[in-house]
Amino acid sequence: MQTKARELLLEQARALLESESNAIANAANLSALIFAQVPDLNWAGFYFVDGDSLVLGPFQGNLACTRIPLGQGVCGTAAQRRETLRIDNVHDFAGHIACDSASESELVVPLIKAQTLLGVLDIDSPRQQRFNADDQSMFEQLAACWLDNSDVHKA
Ligand code: SME
Repeated sequence: MQTKARELLLEQARALLESESNAIANAANLSALIFAQVPDLNWAGFYFVDGDSLVLGPFQGNLACTRIPLGQGVCGTAAQRRETLRIDNVHDFAGHIACDSASESELVVPLIKAQTLLGVLDIDSPRQQRFNADDQSMFEQLAACWLDNSDVHKA
């Protein structure tokens, strides 16, 4: 994506989310916006913390695993480490969970507010090395936009 396209997507996300505070509605619309606007994706969506695991939230793409234990898979590892994971080739990541066999690269951003881990934003691509540092920054800003505009106690 060009810088302009990234900036436009961030503007669209802010416009879309600023008028609504419901966390699920915002997660659903942000997933749809990402999936429609970002090229070469096969899955985009949310998982939310539920006890010792992540449970599936709003998403776009194929059917997905409903529960991922914290510390497992790319999602559970990013959540446990509280850091973004950008994986060029998911087949090289020990413990990767293949919900959709089309996935070749993956980017997972943890959702953290006031030091509380709420979940992750998970983005999958059928292309290896799909995500670069600029993509990572864009998805981190999109996650921050969701956190800023959503009443997370209702997620
Ligand atoms: N691949 C993820 C599982 C979630 S799906 O990609 C939607 C993982 O390894 O955690």
